[in-house]
Amino acid sequence: MGRIVVRGGTVISPSGRWRADVLIDDERIVAVTAPDAAVLPAAGEVAEVDATGCYVIPGGVDVHTHMQLPMGDLTSSDTFASGTAAAAWGGVTTIVDFASQQVGERVLDGLEARHAEAEGQCVIDYAFHQTIGGVDDDSLAAIPTLIEREGISSIKLFMAYPGTYYSDDGQILRAMQVAGEAGMLTMMHAENGIAIDVLRAQAMAAGDTDAIHHGLTRPPELEAEATHRAVQLAKVAGNVPLYIVHLSASQALEEVARARHAGRNVLAETCPQYLYLSLEDHLARPGVEGAAYICSTPLRSRHDHHQKDLWAGLRRDDLAVVATDHCPFCLVDGKDRISEGFTAVPNGIGGVEHRMELIYQGVVTGEITLERWVETCCTTPARVFGMHPRKGEIVPGADADIVVFDPRRTTTLGRAGKHHMAMDHSPWEGITVDGAIDTVISRGEVIVDANGLHGRPGRGRFLRRDRPAVLR
Ligand code: URP
Ligand code: ZN
Ligand code: ZN
Repeated sequence: MGRIVVRGGTVISPSGRWRADVLIDDERIVAVTAPDAAVLPAAGEVAEVDATGCYVIPGGVDVHTHMQLPMGDLTSSDTFASGTAAAAWGGVTTIVDFASQQVGERVLDGLEARHAEAEGQCVIDYAFHQTIGGVDDDSLAAIPTLIEREGISSIKLFMAYPGTYYSDDGQILRAMQVAGEAGMLTMMHAENGIAIDVLRAQAMAAGDTDAIHHGLTRPPELEAEATHRAVQLAKVAGNVPLYIVHLSASQALEEVARARHAGRNVLAETCPQYLYLSLEDHLARPGVEGAAYICSTPLRSRHDHHQKDLWAGLRRDDLAVVATDHCPFCLVDGKDRISEGFTAVPNGIGGVEHRMELIYQGVVTGEITLERWVETCCTTPARVFGMHPRKGEIVPGADADIVVFDPRRTTTLGRAGKHHMAMDHSPWEGITVDGAIDTVISRGEVIVDANGLHGRPGRGRFLRRDRPAVLR
């Protein structure tokens, strides 16, 4: 791989922006210098990436993806190979996906199986969270081993999906205690799944089977209630750190903000779909067109200022991270199950390819700064999940994961434009955003440039993560 100079760009970090050149040696960044500084090799001496007029940002870190996730008899449509290739196209150089365990299964067996699926397949570096869907003595006993031996520093619990991943309050409390004691982070899918299941059954019985009823039966109050409960349980468990995933509703954000104002160790993530798409404009479309937008938490009403509040939450740091919850399903043999009603449709939206571009649009429209874009999409996710400073920031010693982003171009998302996710549609079809991913470097290797994708499946490495960099 050798040495590369990324020359002529503006380096962005959470603390500022500088005209700077970046020297890469093999897999690492070795210098971030004043432009054309004497320490740099002379032009022509080593490989160069011309970043003139561009932003030079850390490779994106998407801490919430579901490649080839089994859901009932279906599996999400991106494999580790196709999904990490799409991620690379989108300026993402690290993903954190999930190994999972359900009732009756052994945690470390599920982890081993997930390793077998991902190994040799990924184009970019990857790590795992561990979902615990069956909290019992056996699974609790396995949690410390995850951090001590396996390089996994976060567990995910569900307050939704009774019968599969759901945990009751006692199980959640126990798991939080054990994870907290081990110095791990508890991630929470915060929706009141018991109440939601009642509303779902009532809707289906009344013949309300269209996709919009997926959203109407998961009201914001039930996201807020579960968020509140998770916050209280984390306090009772010993003020353990808590990370709320895919937060979509203003009312849930209020719960997070209140907890943070009280000095609590509560962090939250939102996703591009909640910042841009809505119940009325997308989920309410007829038939399979609406089903394409079924995900949980659901898209929210555009009449209730959720999107405005979420952007404000990102500015204020009540929302610390933007991830995608990338969980794609095709229309054919997937979302077309809407013919049996919304409860038969697999939950999930694809977006790993477009997060960097979509959140940059928030810079263009004045919602957040360039620095905050990098902080929420690269640096904070790396810190919170124990990967910083190796990932998430352009500093000497870090892995040379770098994206050259050209603000002068535009990008049209979707099948009529840029689309590499393994989906027969795009939730982002027809949206044009400012800026374009120009070059992507992963551990010192140019994996995307004007000539296309060069990164091959198998070059991505499993990342053993440290304990999370959050208050304990
Ligand atoms: O709809 C979603 N979010 N599918 C993926 C599973 C989850 O709950 O994160
Ligand atoms: Zn979830
Ligand atoms: Zn998810």
